[in-house]
Amino acid sequence: AVERTLSIIKPDATRRNLTGKINAVFEDSGLRIVAQKRAQLSPAQAGAFYAVHMERPFYGDLVSFMTSGPVVIQVLEGEGAVAKNREVMGATDPKKADAGTIRAQFAESIEANSVHGSDSAENAANEIRFFFAETEILP
Ligand code: CMP
Repeated sequence: AVERTLSIIKPDATRRNLTGKINAVFEDSGLRIVAQKRAQLSPAQAGAFYAVHMERPFYGDLVSFMTSGPVVIQVLEGEGAVAKNREVMGATDPKKADAGTIRAQFAESIEANSVHGSDSAENAANEIRFFFAETEILP
C-alpha cells in the first residue's frame, strides 16, 4: 500500500551539505518527498520528539546533537514507504549498516547517523503530525 513516513536529515548531514545527496537516494528508491522544511529544533521540540528515549543513557546527548544545527524534516511517500526508507537508511549504527545505505555512506557515528526515519506506520502518523499540518503535505 502507498504509505507515508517521517524523515529527518540530521545536523551532521546538513553541516556537510549532504541534503541533495541524501534526497537523491530517497528519490532513486522510488520515495517521493511530498513535504520538506529546514528547521532549527528547540531543546523542547527535540526532547518531545524523542520522548520514547527519555530513560535511555544517550537521551541528553541526542537532544543536544539534534539541536546543534539545522535539520531538514520531510514526509516521504511511496509503496511500503516505512520499510523502504528503513532499508535505504541502513542500520542505526553505521558500522552495522549495509554497503550503499545512507548511514554506511554518510553517518559519522551511532549518534550522528545522518538520518531519522519512522519505525512503524503508527509512529509515522504521529511523527508526521508532530511536524506538519495536512495542508503542508502535497503529493
Ligand atoms: P534515530 O533513528 O533518530 O533514533 C534515536 C537516535 O538516538 C538514533 O537515531 C541515534 O541518533 C541516537 N543514538 C545515540 N546512541 C544510540 C544508541 N546507543 N542506540 C540507539 N540510538 C542511539
